[in-house]
Amino acid sequence: MELVTKISGITLRNPFMNASGVLGQTVSLLRRLQEAGAGAVVTKSITYEERKGYDNPTFVKIKCGYLNAMGLPNPGFKEFSKELSSSKEEFKVPVIVSIAPSEPKQAKEMAATFKKVADAIEINLSCPHAEKLGLEVFSDMGLTENIVKSVKDNFDGPVFCKLPPYRNEVLGLIKSLESCDALVVSNTIRAMVIDVKAKKPILGNKFGGLSGRALHPISLALVFELYEKTRKPIVGVGGIESWEDAVEFFLAGASAVQIGSALEKKGTTIFKELIEGLEEYLKEEKIGLEELIGLAHDS
Ligand SMILES: Cc1cc2nc3c(=O)[nH]c(=O)nc-3n(C[C@H](O)[C@H](O)[C@H](O)COP(=O)(O)O)c2cc1C
Repeated sequence: MELVTKISGITLRNPFMNASGVLGQTVSLLRRLQEAGAGAVVTKSITYEERKGYDNPTFVKIKCGYLNAMGLPNPGFKEFSKELSSSKEEFKVPVIVSIAPSEPKQAKEMAATFKKVADAIEINLSCPHAEKLGLEVFSDMGLTENIVKSVKDNFDGPVFCKLPPYRNEVLGLIKSLESCDALVVSNTIRAMVIDVKAKKPILGNKFGGLSGRALHPISLALVFELYEKTRKPIVGVGGIESWEDAVEFFLAGASAVQIGSALEKKGTTIFKELIEGLEEYLKEEKIGLEELIGLAHDS
């Protein structure tokens, strides 16, 4: 069965990619994802300046998923773009560069720099635990609008916006995303875990982002609603561990999906598992992937 899917002009050999921040920190990790079968690869969110990240612990397994507060560690956009430029021709699948600018001037410079090496840019408007980045940017409608516009004006390919899973906030601020080409739904939920013996939050940063199982139905509901409320293509993210979880996102309206926590847990063989599972399902149901997208809606 044909698994090719298109999002805003870029073609993916299959609809599965890694979620930003999970195995996309370096070019060699991105290469591993391509070799494992990913339809596109997504980089860690890159900021204007280098960031060291937060103190340990930064990643904790909990009953309903995972909590992380890495603090967006990355070498900064100048350094990362050099690394990516030197090996771009090795990539046969689209490379999506995730950026986390805090203001339009940064967004403009970053977009112009990644123009030669990125097939698409994903703007992180949703990191739940970094000061003046991600979610803090998204809460300011004018700032978001200007950042998205700066990226659009300085980058030739499609621009994706990665949103938080908070329905009311997203619907209230959706107007600020008019100029972007596609939505990535969603990032993690701001959350916390406390050690009852130490009587203190476990994560070094205290607050983190909840990913995995618990996020799946929340993200799925938002994809379903955004599919009806916007005309933009959607990339679904949240708790995908099996091909069935991914199919739910396609039925809700996602054209492709990203895998985060399950990739961390199961390793890159998950791509083969998802591809084979989806192929088998499409064959049994006698349906193409394109027809599946949005099929759970009434009309
Ligand atoms: C360790 C870790 C690091 C992450 N780093 C980023 C990041 O740099 N940028 C971003 O947009 N999302 C980041 N995320 C969020 C994921 O991209 C994804 O949206 C989230 O984990 C939900 O997907 P999942 O349930 O499949 O993990 C990170 C998630 C994890 C677990």
